[in-house]
Amino acid sequence: MGTEFNISESKLQTGDPKSAHVIVCGNEKGGSGKTTISMHMVVALLKTGYRVATIDLDSRQRSFSRYIENRRNWARLNRLQLELPDHFELNRSTRDSANESDSEDFSRFANILAEIERSHDFVVIDTPGSDNYLMRLAHSLADTLTTPLNDSFIDFDVLGKVDAKTHEIYDISHYAMMVKEARRQRRIADSRMLDWVVVRNRLASLSSRNQVNLHNSLKELSSKLGFRVADGISERVIFREFFPMGLTALDDLDHETLGTRPTMSHLSARQEIRQLLSALKLPIDDRGKRRADARRVWLDSAFKPLEIPDIFAD
Ligand SMILES: Nc1ncnc2c1ncn2[C@@H]1O[C@H](COP(=O)(O)OP(=O)(O)OP(=O)(O)O)[C@@H](O)[C@H]1O
Ligand SMILES: [Mg+2]
Repeated sequence: MGTEFNISESKLQTGDPKSAHVIVCGNEKGGSGKTTISMHMVVALLKTGYRVATIDLDSRQRSFSRYIENRRNWARLNRLQLELPDHFELNRSTRDSANESDSEDFSRFANILAEIERSHDFVVIDTPGSDNYLMRLAHSLADTLTTPLNDSFIDFDVLGKVDAKTHEIYDISHYAMMVKEARRQRRIADSRMLDWVVVRNRLASLSSRNQVNLHNSLKELSSKLGFRVADGISERVIFREFFPMGLTALDDLDHETLGTRPTMSHLSARQEIRQLLSALKLPIDDRGKRRADARRVWLDSAFKPLEIPDIFAD
């Protein structure tokens, strides 16, 4: 188990023009817990005193945006002081040509990042459970990528293919290849590695053979793909109950805030989320500024035409 998320250690010094650290929550598998975990990361960071901006790239479902709207409404209705991020939604371009629409998506995204990266410490980006240009772009800009994974080999399959008998991994799947490519592009731009953390979600309370097999396969895949595995989040009804109120396990656990009596499950969930935040090892020093500078260079160069050496000319 990880250590507690350390509040005093993680305060940024005020007045320092550091740039935002980009956390992307992604997994091509739908329903793995991206929005739920994004919202918990956001509230954890806000409660620690960080300035947090959020971007919803899932323009069809808008669950992240809805979660934040619900939080605002719940606070107003009950006269509560609930922390809120500065939120942005990015609707995908509807241009006919793929090139034009990618280019428009790119400049909208770059504009939002330019607007927030100096004024915020963290940007948390929630992505859809499907592959598209914006989702890939977000992955290539991530400093930390959090991938929630349900405790099932169906969900594991988006990362790697597992032999039914030996449980050995014999192939890398589409999403994992996409992250590999995002990493490669990032390395070319600023020679940095994105920190990829897979979070097991909806863990059953009783250990099973499936859990053990999955743990072993993840361990094998983590060394092949270069991700870390964080301690998991258990399956808890309260995670499903939080959404309409926009609450998280990190909010005050009293009747006034929750509208009901807190339970042991609230306390355990809070503990797990704190351990997750600690496991993410988010940066708190000058590296943040250097990363953002490199990101700007990458954004500036990404849509420039390739320079073709003379030997390829007609
Ligand atoms: N640890 C958990 N325990 C119980 N329910 C959970 C847990 N994590 C997520 N859920 C529930 O699972 C469902 C899917 O979660 P969520 O919407 O966060 O996933 P997602 O990856 O964002 O989905 P999508 O790909 O559709 O955007 C939701 O109903 C959510 O409340
Ligand atoms: Mg979602």
